[in-house]
Amino acid sequence: MARRRQLYEGKAKILFEGPEPGTLVQYFKDDATAFNAQKKGTITGKGVLNNRISEYLMTRLMEIGIPTHFIRRLNMREQLIREVEIIPLEIVVRNVAAGSLSTRLGIAEGTRLPRSIIEYYYKNDTLNDPLVCEEHITAFGWAATQDLDDMVALALRVNDFLTGLLLGVGITLVDFKVEFGRLYENDEMRIVLADEISPDNCRLWDSKTGEKMDKDRFRRDLGKVEEGYQEVARRLGILPEAGVRDLKGPEMMQ
Ligand SMILES: Nc1ncnc2c1ncn2[C@@H]1O[C@H](COP(=O)(O)OP(=O)(O)OP(=O)(O)O)[C@@H](O)[C@H]1O
Ligand SMILES: [Mg+2]
Repeated sequence: MARRRQLYEGKAKILFEGPEPGTLVQYFKDDATAFNAQKKGTITGKGVLNNRISEYLMTRLMEIGIPTHFIRRLNMREQLIREVEIIPLEIVVRNVAAGSLSTRLGIAEGTRLPRSIIEYYYKNDTLNDPLVCEEHITAFGWAATQDLDDMVALALRVNDFLTGLLLGVGITLVDFKVEFGRLYENDEMRIVLADEISPDNCRLWDSKTGEKMDKDRFRRDLGKVEEGYQEVARRLGILPEAGVRDLKGPEMMQ
């Protein structure tokens, strides 16, 4: 296959020009970074797992009417997506206290939050992706009030759906980060879910034991990082035993 033109290399993925205008190919690497890239490493097989997990979750979300950039998975490490204008915000939804929320506000990790909490971070590596509020977002023109309302509504639907889906396989969705983009079609603009949904940007804990199955295993040197990601895929019924085409449905737990 002819090599495609590379447009951008990020910390976890590479974007290539797609086969048709308005499309891109998203390649998932095994590279892992944490703490704004101060910590670097590789998690063997992570790219393959994230590609598959993100495909699976985005597909399930599209089935309930969430618009996403996802078109189809091309191979083990690549997926075809619609090119969007990325809104420079990370939208974080939290259900249980962990990470920076616990550190900044002194709420013990693992505390169930009284309701789902949404936070916004400005996507800017030089500034360390700072926490921002609605006033900053609208005043500096990163997103209009309507865009933000749409993103919040979508993020909450994603949260409700994924919380249920994951709980069904014994996983607690503690928190997650999503990115959205603007898709222009027939003189209309739609906000769609972009980037990826994977253990790289979700906190996923075993519902019974509390064991971590996400990037915190890498951040905190807990070991068995790939095994954590693999266990998520296995429980979702998408860890193929005889190759990627041997795909099963979700395995329900009691
Ligand atoms: N559909 C899309 N169209 C255009 N860009 C996209 C789309 N989906 C994701 N992206 C962007 O592609 C890049 C994916 O690469 P990666 O996740 O490795 O980046 P990153 O190192 O996290 O850096 P960044 O700070 O830019 O997110 C991100 O910048 C993301 O915002
Ligand atoms: Mg990223």
